[in-house]
Amino acid sequence: MPKIGNIELPDFPLLLAPMEDVSDPPFRKLCKEQGADVVYTEFISSEGLIRDAAKSVIKLDIYEKERPVGIQIFGAELDSMLQAVDIVEKSNPDIIDINFGCPVKKVVCKNAGAGILRDIPLMVKLTEEIVKRTKLPVTVKTRLGWDNNSIKIVEVAERLQDVGIEAISIHGRTRVQMYKGEADWKPIAEVKNNQRMHIPVFGNGDVDTPEAAVKMRDEYGLDGAMIGRASIGYPWFFKEVKHYFKTGGHLAPPTMQERVDAARRHLQMAIDWKGEKLGVFETRRHYTNYFKGIPHFKEYRMKMVTSDEAADVFAAFEEVEEKFGNFQFA
Ligand SMILES: Cc1cc2nc3c(=O)[nH]c(=O)nc-3n(C[C@H](O)[C@H](O)[C@H](O)COP(=O)(O)O)c2cc1C
Repeated sequence: MPKIGNIELPDFPLLLAPMEDVSDPPFRKLCKEQGADVVYTEFISSEGLIRDAAKSVIKLDIYEKERPVGIQIFGAELDSMLQAVDIVEKSNPDIIDINFGCPVKKVVCKNAGAGILRDIPLMVKLTEEIVKRTKLPVTVKTRLGWDNNSIKIVEVAERLQDVGIEAISIHGRTRVQMYKGEADWKPIAEVKNNQRMHIPVFGNGDVDTPEAAVKMRDEYGLDGAMIGRASIGYPWFFKEVKHYFKTGGHLAPPTMQERVDAARRHLQMAIDWKGEKLGVFETRRHYTNYFKGIPHFKEYRMKMVTSDEAADVFAAFEEVEEKFGNFQFA
């Protein structure tokens, strides 16, 4: 069974991917309830943390019930990252994860995120120092390489392992690809097949059906799957994958009642956590998927995603419950 440091995980664990404005405590909790084995925060700027920027600091919040949880940081300056590690430790997460995969220009241009894939010695150095700084297990999330001509992920993963990381999650795309094309899991399997690798190698990118997860496990031989977009507005995905692993069959999709209940709890937890304005705003992106497949739904979806008042969104849920209560999801 794979382990991250002393954290014991089930066979082929499912990890909730770090996702900006998505992987917040309410959503992580919902995913955990539905079977996610490890959850990660969205990326948190080390520069923001050391400036005590409220926007970064709030992202350190964790609920006891979501453990094991990893806090993900990004940056490219050694001093800032080490200070950020000290701050992160005070929140008592189970894991510290380093983001070496974010492709966004404003991050990359500072050599952070996937930007560091152009400077592997710096990537290794930062990782080594972070590992030395903390007693917590350190994991890394990265991409295959900067571009197609510079894929050295087998060597990179081995070097990161040698400076002490406890697991690596690899998104099967390069920085240049951003989110285009299909994720390529072959180079991730090459990392896993490297005889010198002994830490878990988790695959990421396009695991959007239970069959894809099985393929990642059986054909590519990876140690677990990190799941991002397939879970947005659909925390049941984790349970569905696990059911498929166990039985080879598909679970019935969640009922309308389960969806409305989840949407309500999600919104309420978000409001409790970050206040009405942000709670209402940041839960919006989930609704399309919570209610996907219902015909003539636009009017209700619009209410959910344009109302600024929580009461109006809750009223929209109630209307949906009344009008579509018997809808059968395919
Ligand atoms: C909305 C969104 C926000 C993301 N934010 C982060 C982030 O903060 N840190 C990170 O490492 N990756 C981030 N990612 C990348 C995902 O973690 C993941 O690598 C990517 O979506 C591919 O996995 P998927 O096909 O399962 O979605 C983000 C992706 C999305 C869609």
